[in-house]
Amino acid sequence: MAKKVKVGVIGAGMISAFHLEGYRECSDAEVVAVCDVVADRAKAAAEKYDIPKTFTSAGRMLAMKEIDAVSVCTPNINHMQSTLKALAAGKHVLCEKPIAMNARQAQTMIDATRKAKKKLMIGLNNRFFTGSRFLKKIIEAGKIGKPYYARSLSIRRRGVPGWGVFGQKKLQGGGPLIDLGVHAIDFMWWIMGRPNPVSAYGITFDHLGSSGQGLGDWGVGYNPTEFSVEDMVGGIIRFEDGRALGLDISWAAHTGDLYWMRLFGTKGGVQLMPEFVIYEMEGKTKIDSAPQLGQENQYANEIQHFADCIRRGQQPISPGSQAVVVATMLDGLAKAARTGRVVSLRTA
Ligand SMILES: NC(=O)c1ccc[n+]([C@@H]2O[C@H](COP(=O)([O-])OP(=O)(O)OC[C@H]3O[C@@H](n4cnc5c(N)ncnc54)[C@H](O)[C@@H]3O)[C@@H](O)[C@H]2O)c1
Repeated sequence: MAKKVKVGVIGAGMISAFHLEGYRECSDAEVVAVCDVVADRAKAAAEKYDIPKTFTSAGRMLAMKEIDAVSVCTPNINHMQSTLKALAAGKHVLCEKPIAMNARQAQTMIDATRKAKKKLMIGLNNRFFTGSRFLKKIIEAGKIGKPYYARSLSIRRRGVPGWGVFGQKKLQGGGPLIDLGVHAIDFMWWIMGRPNPVSAYGITFDHLGSSGQGLGDWGVGYNPTEFSVEDMVGGIIRFEDGRALGLDISWAAHTGDLYWMRLFGTKGGVQLMPEFVIYEMEGKTKIDSAPQLGQENQYANEIQHFADCIRRGQQPISPGSQAVVVATMLDGLAKAARTGRVVSLRTA
């Protein structure tokens, strides 16, 4: 059996705790170092998770020969830089979502991954629920026919993240579109069998975020004067084969929290949230015995999968090469919102 994967974690903020918990549960990997530009954060994580070494610079941590792989858990602006450094140092990378600030950066990461002959997996954690894999199998088996339209709503009443740098465009690349939209797009696109996107149209708003009305259950506070992103997005992506995905995404809106996903197929349909229900499958009008989404630690599944891919030389189920397509869709929606025009996503 291959040896344990030795890991360094870059960034010791909110999401890194989920990675560190995942590594603690994974008997095939071991965190040997953690790094954060804020020394106390790295030290606190090291103490809590019994990690031998801490650093304030990723470069110095990556010089550790024993490290096989890293988790990149920094703000979006640093994803490309840390990933490129890690690949150049010969490490595999699990990078948090979104893959990067935009598709151009993402492509640079893909090119570097190919050159380094290492793995680049993206933390698209919704793909790692048991229910997600169950659903994907049902769709691949054609049980709901051809899924032709999907709609995903991810709307918080008062949920601008009250930590980190989420409201700052120059550090994150965008607001709820890139933060929540990446999940909404990725999950539906993956479940639909990754159809080729051809155009995007979208509109963004900021009425609550910059006026300080976005504060609620998602952290202790944010500075509205630094809020430089949208707070709400509506959009639609068209795919080459005539299918489509519609989106409504928000960090703050005058409504109740609303997480709602539907997939409409020629022979059946699926409701994923608030509960997982399959309609019109195999002659039945409603099947609700599917494993519910959100009932397990998807991050632990994600970390175990990363370790498995490294140890067995397999391709991850959420590779950078797929995340770059999602980044293209996000860029297209943002451009459509800026210009008021439909944006072509065709590459040829
Ligand atoms: N998978 C998910 O659903 C999910 C959820 C939350 C956050 N995220 C992603 O995780 C990333 C981080 O978000 P967060 O909520 O943990 O933010 P955070 O602000 O809590 O943590 C980021 C940490 O990175 C550190 N950092 C910044 N630059 C660094 C550098 N150059 N080197 C080392 N450390 C550095 C910061 O000091 C901070 O401690 C973002 O890209 C975000 O989109 C993903």
